[in-house]
Amino acid sequence: RPNHSSAVASKLIETARELVYPRGKGIYATDETPEAIAVVLHDAADEDVKQKQWTEDEERDRRRRWREAAYNAIPSEYISGVILFSETLLDFHLAPLLSDRGIIVGIRANGELRPLPNSPEEFLVQGQDNLLRDLQAARAAGARFSKWRAPIACTATGLPTEAGLDAHAETLAQYAAVSQEAGLVPVIEPDVEFKEDADLARSVEVHEWIIARIYARCRAHGVLLEGTLLKPSFPQPGLKHASRETVTAEQIALATATVIARSVPSAVAGVVFLSGGLAPSIATSYLAAVNALVNAAPPESPFSRLPPLSFSFGRALQGDAARHWVHGDDDKVKDTFEKWSRACWLAAQGKQA
Ligand code: 13P
Repeated sequence: RPNHSSAVASKLIETARELVYPRGKGIYATDETPEAIAVVLHDAADEDVKQKQWTEDEERDRRRRWREAAYNAIPSEYISGVILFSETLLDFHLAPLLSDRGIIVGIRANGELRPLPNSPEEFLVQGQDNLLRDLQAARAAGARFSKWRAPIACTATGLPTEAGLDAHAETLAQYAAVSQEAGLVPVIEPDVEFKEDADLARSVEVHEWIIARIYARCRAHGVLLEGTLLKPSFPQPGLKHASRETVTAEQIALATATVIARSVPSAVAGVVFLSGGLAPSIATSYLAAVNALVNAAPPESPFSRLPPLSFSFGRALQGDAARHWVHGDDDKVKDTFEKWSRACWLAAQGKQA
């Protein structure tokens, strides 16, 4: 039995499509916790600003002002949706800055991480308690989609464990069902980590395992796939593997298209990649390369039948702009958001900026 009416189902499908069409459009992720955004702004600052001691109220005010500046600057020709942290939506009330310009508002649904007791290198994601109530409140405040990030450990051997994969797949599918029940399009985010020693083939294998398991559990929970998006990482060698230095965008593109073709049902509305701390030029080059590969695929290739491959970048979109903002250079904030949003929009169509 579907957990939403046919009217809600049509709305979910329409919103999911609006997030990835017209081709090229994608999402700006701004759902860092207050602690994480303080680090972004601290790292963006020069030494004299770094020395400053901020009170809690000053920090809060700075977060609000940075968000406001970013939302005023982000161009709606290229950006379909923005993901907000609950404070930004419910306390700062900044959603109208986006929705008034036709940008769809999203909400971070996942909570904090807790180590798996039997495998402390892996982390369970909290936040299922009160999830329906919280997502209904977000919808009442203007949200139309939500996201849940699950960090998937990935080493050459050993991680992820079966228990870790099962836990994340089950949690993500339950979240997706509840999000649709609340009338919000779920953005399902398995973030396969790349800080260890896996090579590209191992990263591909782990991506396929987790994504296939997520859709098996989505089926069990009655999730309407047409009203969902997938937000995966790009498969890539780990930072501790020698091939990290030599891997090309074309190799990443082939690995990425292979993972999506093998593990994402064609009913899914779209795939929006996270940037994962990659430099903006690297993240956009991977996105451009995978779309160029797909665009060139002949009709008999499975790559010609993939859903739109776009972006849901945080750091790769805002990193440079944050540096200008902390130094009070407001014109450059706008120019920089324009530059990287356009680069992402081009990349999502297979073109280099
Ligand atoms: P990054 O693009 O900085 O990885 O952020 C996307 C995101 O939402 C991570 O959860």
